[in-house]
Amino acid sequence: MTLVLGIETSCDETAAAVVVDGKKVLSSIVSSQTEIHSKYGGVVPELACRRHIETISPIVSEAVDKAGVKLTDVNAIAVTSGPGLIGALIVGVSFAKSLAYSINRPLVSVNHLEAHIFSIGPEQEVSFPFISLLVSGGHTNLYLVRDYGCYEMLGRTYDDAAGEAFDKVAKLLNLGYPGGPIIDKLAKEGNSKAFNFPRALHLKESFDFSFSGLKTAVMEHVRETRIMGLEKKINQADVAASFQQAVVDVLVSKTIASAKSKGVRDIVVAGGVAANEQLRRELKETAIKEGLQLRIPSLQYCTDNAAMVAGIGYHKLIKGKIADLDLNPQADLSLVNWEGI
Ligand code: KG4
Ligand code: ZN
Repeated sequence: MTLVLGIETSCDETAAAVVVDGKKVLSSIVSSQTEIHSKYGGVVPELACRRHIETISPIVSEAVDKAGVKLTDVNAIAVTSGPGLIGALIVGVSFAKSLAYSINRPLVSVNHLEAHIFSIGPEQEVSFPFISLLVSGGHTNLYLVRDYGCYEMLGRTYDDAAGEAFDKVAKLLNLGYPGGPIIDKLAKEGNSKAFNFPRALHLKESFDFSFSGLKTAVMEHVRETRIMGLEKKINQADVAASFQQAVVDVLVSKTIASAKSKGVRDIVVAGGVAANEQLRRELKETAIKEGLQLRIPSLQYCTDNAAMVAGIGYHKLIKGKIADLDLNPQADLSLVNWEGI
């Protein structure tokens, strides 16, 4: 039995978790900073960093206590070392390094994208190969995943990530932060056919994405309505529903097309936007129709958490991928195959 303590501080969530053999979650504690950043309409790096410093120690203690174990029962410490906000990453990595040194346990460096890709691990079977749609606030990527540590990137966004588009559109409509969950809820009351927002059709032949044209179209619509003095006439629910429909259409069609083109039956969706109800529903319906197998984590493992860090950390550990204690975080860390590391 191998216990891994996971630590995650790449953005605005301070999280710690204890996971057995990469599967059984004994505890998963997430301290969200939403209330700190919401008044600014986005994450303020300096504030995020300070908050991580305040909360990291109590959150790790809570995770260990809740797991019903002692710190010295932990066999390894896995920490997110990038990509993310550099100041925020430094807090988690420094903490993990000192802990690993003080209890004399191996340290495992985890790529945040990789943690998301395998975030179904604690809940469902992982079977290879699979298509991974990773949709978060910072990324919208499609991968062909052949094994742990073996990835082929099929597509990525040229500009905004899907989550970023949700956040920006919500800000534009003065709805609050983070925008994803708010638009998700509001869209239920709107007509998704009210506006025909663009769907980056010029990228039809590839598995790449682009959401900035869509964001601009929504912005233009709102701006024009405001200029005409018709602010009160903006039907926010219709705008939210039509915007969300455009995002979902693109994500569903590219994901399904990539699976078919690669002859892969399994699709796994991950990242904060994977919490979107319409995306989950439409992907499921289309996957069934196409005879594909779809796996999506439960909501708690879609957004940032440390169970996913401990989960993939375990698989790196058993393959001997241990980090040195001079590990440095990297804001733009890219996803690389384990062969080379
Ligand atoms: O994975 P995550 O927690 O952090 C990153 O690694 O970026 O994703 C956060 C993103 C935010 O942009 C947020 O608005 C979006 O995920 N999000 C959603 C939903 N819940 C979170 N987007 C659409 N619908 C949701 N229900
Ligand atoms: Zn994330």
